[in-house]
Amino acid sequence: MATMQMSVSPEDLSQLPRGNDRIPEPGIMVIFGASGDLTRRKLMPALFHLERAGLLPEKLAIVGVARRALGNKFAEDMRGGIIEYSGVEASDPCLANFVERIHYYQVNFDDPASYVGLKAELERISREKDIGGRRLFYLATSPEYFAGIIQNLGAQGMAQPEQGKAAVVIEKPFGHDLASARALNSQVNAVFNEEQVFRIDHYLGKETVQNILVFRFANGIFEPIWNRNYVDHVQITVAETLGVEGRGPFYEKAGALRDVVQNHVMELLTLVALEPPSSFEADSVRREKLKVWRAIPSIPILNVVRGQYGAGEVDGKPVVGYRDESRVSPESGIETYAAVKLEIENWRWAGVPFYLRAGKRMQKRATEISIQFKQPPLLIFDRLARHAACQVIKPNLLTIRIQPDEGIALRFGAKAPTTMEMDVCPVNMDFDYEEAFGKSSANGYERLLLDAMLGDQTLFSHRDGVETTWALYTPILEAWAAKTPEKFPNYAAGSWGPECADHLIASGGHAWRNDLGRKG
Ligand code: BG6
Repeated sequence: MATMQMSVSPEDLSQLPRGNDRIPEPGIMVIFGASGDLTRRKLMPALFHLERAGLLPEKLAIVGVARRALGNKFAEDMRGGIIEYSGVEASDPCLANFVERIHYYQVNFDDPASYVGLKAELERISREKDIGGRRLFYLATSPEYFAGIIQNLGAQGMAQPEQGKAAVVIEKPFGHDLASARALNSQVNAVFNEEQVFRIDHYLGKETVQNILVFRFANGIFEPIWNRNYVDHVQITVAETLGVEGRGPFYEKAGALRDVVQNHVMELLTLVALEPPSSFEADSVRREKLKVWRAIPSIPILNVVRGQYGAGEVDGKPVVGYRDESRVSPESGIETYAAVKLEIENWRWAGVPFYLRAGKRMQKRATEISIQFKQPPLLIFDRLARHAACQVIKPNLLTIRIQPDEGIALRFGAKAPTTMEMDVCPVNMDFDYEEAFGKSSANGYERLLLDAMLGDQTLFSHRDGVETTWALYTPILEAWAAKTPEKFPNYAAGSWGPECADHLIASGGHAWRNDLGRKG
């Protein structure tokens, strides 16, 4: 395997300018649902990374809001989370500074009186620390509270503060079908203008996901062949080895199509398929994404399959089937795996199948995009190939490894070093993020939190985008809800998913790539 040499070493990188023009204005970040896992595991460590990088304004307060009476314990617990998830030493002086920023306020999400108190508390902190009127509300609660919180913020005048600006970040899931997403959009937009709304999909915070655009548009060699004339088909896989991890009640209402395909996978799809935007400004990028989603014809039900894992073995350890997970119905018909075949009916992509799949308890954790190019005429080599390893000449394959083993590989045919024959063997040119740029401790939320604080919506979903992807999948979800699958569970934990998914891709003359990861 050939490895590419990079021209930037980790040492060079640390010398690069830190982007001080990207320091947000002073303000208060208010996190609703702050006692949940997301805040401790992802948001606080990400904010701490921003602190360490010198990217937070000096005057920034972070107010955790939740139903429990946590008081000062909250800041202490967040400190513990940062140490646990960002690997920082407890004695790091930056950590002490950061913890100083953290406050807590107890509310009852449904009670208007709580918001009167919250408003007064934010004003108190603002006055005491001379912070001004900028507010960023982060909704990390369970989705049933989103609409109520937004309405209450509006009723208290917190969405349009007199002296300052406000914005709201809304976690996924944004609705559970087209009708609910539309209703939520209307509720949100009744209080906040679209320019104040940041619908978050954490996949867009991943470096490797953003790099898809750089790879495509900062390099000249791939764009001319990035189309139906040269691309045979595209596969996008989000495979997890994890099960539902105690989130049974949530997952029972979600399933793989809602949880991962409608959002994360569709975001990956647009970045592969979109036309070059005229700039990286929010409007241009979001407009191009929308064009891709709108060019997808309705997906026939036969082009979508579902699966549910039974008991099996993952990473050498026995695991229970989905129906035996805690707080999951023993007759559950929810899918833990979904695969889709779709087409994009535009001039660039018509006729190129896109195969998408997402599953829990798969054999390997890997999120990858592979672009398989068309096979050139190979008759001359076919006649000569005798080398055992080179019996099948493989087409060029470009693999974008989103996680883990982040990187990009290009497979091409090379002459095997045999004296007499012209044997062609597949080899890889491989770019590995860690080798090139060093190990990153970022979790993806850093970029998104910073952008939201700066008011940059480029990496966030627009209401039209969310509704368009829901419109594609709602008929499938309705058809599935009307018919409980008879053969669940239909794949063993630790396998590559159900047989019906193999048939789906075989119907297009293709096969899933299961040699995922750097070493395959
Ligand atoms: C979340 C889903 O949005 O994404 C989870 O709700 C899933 O079920 C997770 O495990 C995957 O994210 P990542 O970053 O671990 O690939």
